[in-house]
Amino acid sequence: MTDKGLREIVAAETKLADIDGQAGRLWYVGYDIHDLAGRTSYEEVVYLLHELRLPTQAELDGLTEFLVEERKVSHFLEDLMPTLAQQTSPMSMLRTSVSAASAYDPDGWDRSDEADRRKALRLIAKTPTMLAMYHRLRTGQEIVQPHPKLPHAANFLYMLHGVEPSQEDAEVLDTTFVLYAEHTMNASTFTARIVASTLSDMFSAITAAISALKGPLHGGANEESMKMLEEVGSPEAAAGYVRELLAGHEKVMGFGHAVYKTMDPRATVLKALSKETGERHGDTPWYEISEAIERTVFEQKGLYPNVDFYAASVYHALQIPTDLMTPIFALARMAGWTAHVREQYADNRVIRPSSEYVGPRDRTWVPIEER
Ligand code: ACO
Repeated sequence: MTDKGLREIVAAETKLADIDGQAGRLWYVGYDIHDLAGRTSYEEVVYLLHELRLPTQAELDGLTEFLVEERKVSHFLEDLMPTLAQQTSPMSMLRTSVSAASAYDPDGWDRSDEADRRKALRLIAKTPTMLAMYHRLRTGQEIVQPHPKLPHAANFLYMLHGVEPSQEDAEVLDTTFVLYAEHTMNASTFTARIVASTLSDMFSAITAAISALKGPLHGGANEESMKMLEEVGSPEAAAGYVRELLAGHEKVMGFGHAVYKTMDPRATVLKALSKETGERHGDTPWYEISEAIERTVFEQKGLYPNVDFYAASVYHALQIPTDLMTPIFALARMAGWTAHVREQYADNRVIRPSSEYVGPRDRTWVPIEER
């Protein structure tokens, strides 16, 4: 029997995260996501996922210093970026840039776990620079160099907008990074682990993960949610819009989940952030439209929003362009992906599932001129 979508297949053991889909709960290394979000910085979560424990202050300082030192990208990437900014979408740029970053990694082809840890941290440090640089170039603005004193999420907003963000905005982005950092065996993480299981390298595994995240059924849903909010335009129009979509057997982006059968616990945090950030910036009526859509989708289909739905209006309020929303998901998930790659290497067996043959059998071969 084929298990299409592999829902019931347990493909690996992990110490990184756990989900209770019925109860709508998520834990990183044993910590409830609701205890981490808003209280623990993204840098601490990076440490947690890579070391399987929360850091002391000295350990956090050490990690932060390494990340800050590694924010700049190579000259190779600086030279490549103007072409990418003109010719590619943000996710394609990120996929290409991560692949290209392997060329100048100081650890080269060193396959030790220590080298892989450093490669992971460099990817976490450099990918926000890549994305901000790309956006500045494509909009004809000066590139903003990384700020050595700002935390990870704040520095990204600084490089993107060219001004230091408010404390509140920096904290909001940081919380979204924490929420997006890890999520067990989703499609992109599984992809990364498959590539790692062949003993291919960290950069190849993460390049593949970005490719998997790009699709609208996975990370691409936050962008699609934002486009939907704009199309709907007002809370009053939401019910009719959703009914029409569902009548046409179309999916409402940002709803449903392969694992959660109730509200995604990340969505509850993002819903509150959407209201608060939207009100603070006067960026309305996205929260109200979102709530109206949520009500109708629940009435019509019994489906709840997932992480991507309210993330869209949060990012909009932070003046993040819609097509950067999925790449931002990728920047945050870099922590989980790279930790999974190291976990796969540590207890590896090549991932090679079976398939069920459903084609014709015992056919008679005929020469081409007789076909
Ligand atoms: N809108 C309308 N109907 C939906 C939706 C939706 N968003 N999600 C599921 N359904 C329906 C399906 O059509 C199906 O109905 P049916 O039984 O009448 O055919 C039923 O609910 C079960 O859905 P599946 O597609 O089997 O659920 P699955 O677990 O395979 O897919 C997925 C989960 C891909 C997330 C799906 O809910 C979906 O496509 N959602 C929209 C895209 C999205 O938001 N993706 C982001 C997910 S979170 C993340 O990746 C970070």
